[in-house]
Amino acid sequence: MAFEFIKVNPQYDKHIGLIELNRPKELNALNRQLMLEIRDVLREWDEDDNIRVVILTGGERVFAAGADIKQMADATAISMLGIDQFSTWDQIKKTKKPIIAAVSGFALGGGCELAMTCDLIIASETAQFGQPEINIGTMPGAGGTQRLTRAVGKSLAMEMVLTGRFITAEEAQRAGLVVRVVPVEVLLAEAVKTAKQIAAKSPIAVRLAKESVNNAYETTLDEGLQFERKNFYLTFASEDQKEGMKAFVEKRAPDFKGR
Ligand code: CAA
Repeated sequence: MAFEFIKVNPQYDKHIGLIELNRPKELNALNRQLMLEIRDVLREWDEDDNIRVVILTGGERVFAAGADIKQMADATAISMLGIDQFSTWDQIKKTKKPIIAAVSGFALGGGCELAMTCDLIIASETAQFGQPEINIGTMPGAGGTQRLTRAVGKSLAMEMVLTGRFITAEEAQRAGLVVRVVPVEVLLAEAVKTAKQIAAKSPIAVRLAKESVNNAYETTLDEGLQFERKNFYLTFASEDQKEGMKAFVEKRAPDFKGR
């Protein structure tokens, strides 16, 4: 596949695919084409057994400065409804494989929302997160009011959404939005380290565990526990579960095949 606004490497490291946003002049502003490209590559990689984990980054300078304001400026409610750009985001959210966002520099508006659509965020010391849509007469539309509130709690989310204030990587970590803050030079290496840890596990267990954690947002505790239990039982239908437990008993490293 040839892409205009992203760079992809399906073999960045063993079992790790890398997607790099590539609209540097526009601070990686997320136009519709760019989002479709991310969707398409994730769709393809979801079917590729060689890829177990995906890293999504914007590079060292900027993650993404939001949805493309120039593309949206003259839109009407009905043209937006017709384009239905957020169905692309819904498809990205349905990716079965884990996605790590490696965020450096601005992650604003749709950029912050894209990072939150991923499964976990590792940030560099220069990362700044914000939902500044309020400054341009609108509000978050790609999950910002929902995912940010769930991640950092109501007060901070409300302040960010209503004032447009950016938070630093350190504040984002304290609030629970990002898992770790590292120097910019090692951001990608850190993301790879985490990706490798995940890639060494059973892909079946990883998929079911990701599904179960995400389900915690979607349902009641009781339904979530039932869902988790079914997925837990399902792992026992895999060869990987047999291999994992046998390897533990035999005091050796497991060799997971994704079967
Ligand atoms: N859309 C389109 N173009 C953008 C952009 C965006 N979101 N953000 C930056 N750019 C463009 C600028 O227009 C500029 O282009 P030109 O060189 O052609 O003028 C270029 O990228 C560089 O930007 P700046 O000169 O503004 O760079 P800066 O370092 O002075 O400021 C910034 C950086 C603070 C991030 C500033 O660019 C900014 O405020 N950007 C907009 C942030 C924003 O409001 N994001 C929310 C968008 S709406 C949204 O995302 C809706 C949603 O929920 C889906």
